Amino acid sequence: MAAESGDKWVLSVTAQTPTNIAVIKYWGKRDEDLILPINDSISVTLDPGHLCTTTSVAVSPAFTHDRIWLNGKEVSLSGGRYQNCLRELRSRATNYEDEKKGIKITKKDWENLRVHIVSYNNFPTAAGLASSAAGLACLVFSLAKLMNVKEDHSKLSAIARQGSGSACRSLYGGFVKWIMGKEENGSDSIAVQLADEKHWDDLVIIIAVVSSRQKETSSTSGMRDTVETSALIKHRAKEVVPKRIVKMEEAIAKRDFPAFSRLACADSNQFHAVCLDTLPPIFYMNDTSHRIISCVEKWNRHEGTPQVAYTFDAGPNAVLISQNRKAATLLLQRLLFHFPPQSDADLDSYVIGDKTILKDAGIQDMKDIEALVPPPEIKENASSQRFRGDVSYFICTRPGRGPIVLTDESKSLINPETGLPK
Ligand code: DP6
Repeated sequence: MAAESGDKWVLSVTAQTPTNIAVIKYWGKRDEDLILPINDSISVTLDPGHLCTTTSVAVSPAFTHDRIWLNGKEVSLSGGRYQNCLRELRSRATNYEDEKKGIKITKKDWENLRVHIVSYNNFPTAAGLASSAAGLACLVFSLAKLMNVKEDHSKLSAIARQGSGSACRSLYGGFVKWIMGKEENGSDSIAVQLADEKHWDDLVIIIAVVSSRQKETSSTSGMRDTVETSALIKHRAKEVVPKRIVKMEEAIAKRDFPAFSRLACADSNQFHAVCLDTLPPIFYMNDTSHRIISCVEKWNRHEGTPQVAYTFDAGPNAVLISQNRKAATLLLQRLLFHFPPQSDADLDSYVIGDKTILKDAGIQDMKDIEALVPPPEIKENASSQRFRGDVSYFICTRPGRGPIVLTDESKSLINPETGLPK
């Protein structure tokens, strides 16, 4: 490695990567180390403007070991998953040269050069939203750019997959399918884009971040227990998911919302059913999650055709996908009726993201929430109850684009002189 300016240089790249929500779930591995799933899955990428990870990576001859800082705190990089990603990326690194800066790195040099990784989420990690998917995808994407890896996004997805399964789907925007593959080495277990984010841009997504005191079972150990103890998961992976994947691809291609909604809700419910079928049983949803499901089910039934789809990952938060803005507005009114904020909350932090939906719903201040009336589908008194404080906040968002490199130097999280977090 030749550097005319001595060993002082720091070369860095910053990237932004979205998170994703599965509408046909990944649950269960056939290979724990390579992270190979027992079924295909399909996801929607969420708008990185509202939910994303930003990662800066840097390389310098002055660095003595690989280091990572997540949300301001240095953590260990020694875990097998990180190490697998780093090894895969280093083996695909290619020559890099910047004559002006006097930097020349050969393919061989990458084996000995150490990297620094600094990563931030633009949403609270404590919220239990899929932060590992965006985080691992961003780590792989930004390091691939830094190391001049020439492979396409699908090949990169196979590396991100080894960091966290669901991360492979965050390499693309819009609608994404993770093909489980057949090869033992995992080379064909990759993500592909089904349609970009413009294909179905009527969709509006509202996430209810549900208050929870319960410590959740991690996806990794939860799905391991399910594969070991549940008979239902075998039926799901072999008989149910393959048919649903075909139908879901069709629904997305045709923008058939009723079909999309029925499939997404059924698949979320079956995922939670296999969790219950696990020994010991895993409970990810709580009473608030169940109330949200029943609110949506009642409304969809009342309208005669689905207005909203719900899906829940390994936690109590609801991801609600509305067929258009009109439906999203009506949904938000219903959600705010059932789940008003605590009296000391402020509206600005209770509904975040795309606030224009709040405006469409005619809600300008807390008084407007208090004045909401029960929706027409609710007849009995018992179901028009209000559950104050059971939702922490709502995020209004939409399907979004895939990863991008941020070229604006001011966006970098790494100090260009020291190579340490800013
Ligand atoms: C319920 O990708 O977090 O969100 O591969 O062990 O890291 P590991 O698990 P992870 O599991 C995600 C499970 C899910 C469903 C999904 O995203 O498809």
